[in-house]
Amino acid sequence: MRTAVCDSLGIEYPIFAFSHCRDVVAAVSRAGGMGVLGALVFTPDELERELKWIDKNVDGRPYGVDVVIPAAYVGKEQGGLEKLDLEKLVPDEHKRFLEELLARYDVPPLPEDVPHAEGLFGWSDTMGRALVDVAMSYPIKLLANALGPPPADVIDRAHAAGVQVAALVGRADQALRQQAQGVDIIVAAGYEAGGHTGEISTLVLVPEVVDAVAPLPVLAAGGIGSGRQVAAALALGAQGVWMGSVWLTTNEANEEPVITERLLAATSNDTVRTRCITGKPARMLRSSYTEEWGAPDAPDPLPMPLQHLATAEAHQRVRRAALAGSPTAAQLAVTPAGQIVGSMKQMRPARQVVSDLVDECIDTTERLARLMEATEKGT
Ligand SMILES: Cc1cc2nc3c(=O)[nH]c(=O)nc-3n(C[C@H](O)[C@H](O)[C@H](O)COP(=O)(O)O)c2cc1C
Repeated sequence: MRTAVCDSLGIEYPIFAFSHCRDVVAAVSRAGGMGVLGALVFTPDELERELKWIDKNVDGRPYGVDVVIPAAYVGKEQGGLEKLDLEKLVPDEHKRFLEELLARYDVPPLPEDVPHAEGLFGWSDTMGRALVDVAMSYPIKLLANALGPPPADVIDRAHAAGVQVAALVGRADQALRQQAQGVDIIVAAGYEAGGHTGEISTLVLVPEVVDAVAPLPVLAAGGIGSGRQVAAALALGAQGVWMGSVWLTTNEANEEPVITERLLAATSNDTVRTRCITGKPARMLRSSYTEEWGAPDAPDPLPMPLQHLATAEAHQRVRRAALAGSPTAAQLAVTPAGQIVGSMKQMRPARQVVSDLVDECIDTTERLARLMEATEKGT
């Protein structure tokens, strides 16, 4: 399983774990893969705290950080609008829809003393860069970016510090643009992936991207949860796998119990690609919330970052009520998840996920080798 990216990044297995949970990131790095912390959900101060902890808990193994500096979002031309200006762009129709929805599911307002959720994640140049500043103050080995080529100066800065840059793509032409921008590793994320995703399946996308950007290394993402799928990714020409959903049901993951229960019970048919969370198409676990936004009388989701800004407090209210035991609020709880969720049937330690992937990948390639041998011998 050792590929060139293992050598260039100093890891044992080409298994990359995207996670917002520091325990998962550290556990995968310690197990010989590469944990990559999703920084989007953190403020710069919070990211500082998380990376400090990770750095102490990886036993000197490499780890990375993922930011999201989108190529297109509302306010980009103005260098990112202030939150107050963005709030003015949220139509009353969307506010009314949410209030009516929460009332129907008996989700109470926030108590007055509870601070409101931060509605603007790092989905902008300014916020993304603030997270990059923190990330670059740690000895990370990989800086990943989603939703467009990372700005050239961010790539230059990473390279000057010996940090490789990865970028997620959903089409071969996007991969070519990333290559032209100077990215070192392409993550080809197929339709079945959790989170933001395009419309081309992993099986079709990966070889297209591999051929388009050769000799740049490509990691396959989307729908990978077993060693058979790792072997398939390597067979398609990928140098490794980038996985997100599978870590949600590891012992280390910090998911809320209601989400974990739903993930374990879900089939591969229980996800939906929707704009209702971020404004750009992202694959989520199907819930009453995603269904309500898909109803014919629901408003059209707003463009990034307005949709999340408009809905952040609603998600906070749902989470609080669900944690307090409200069954109706629990129906509205959301999480990104890919189609591989249908295979996530038990909790496992992250280290065991890594070793199961490696063992099954080896078994698969040996089985294929025996098949080839038998074919050659004509038996
Ligand atoms: C819960 C969750 C949150 C995600 N958030 C991000 C994110 O903030 N940034 C990002 O680049 N990718 C994000 N992704 C996508 C992953 O990086 C990865 O491309 C995807 O999970 C791969 O497909 P899989 O879910 O089938 O493993 C997220 C995925 C999941 C499951």
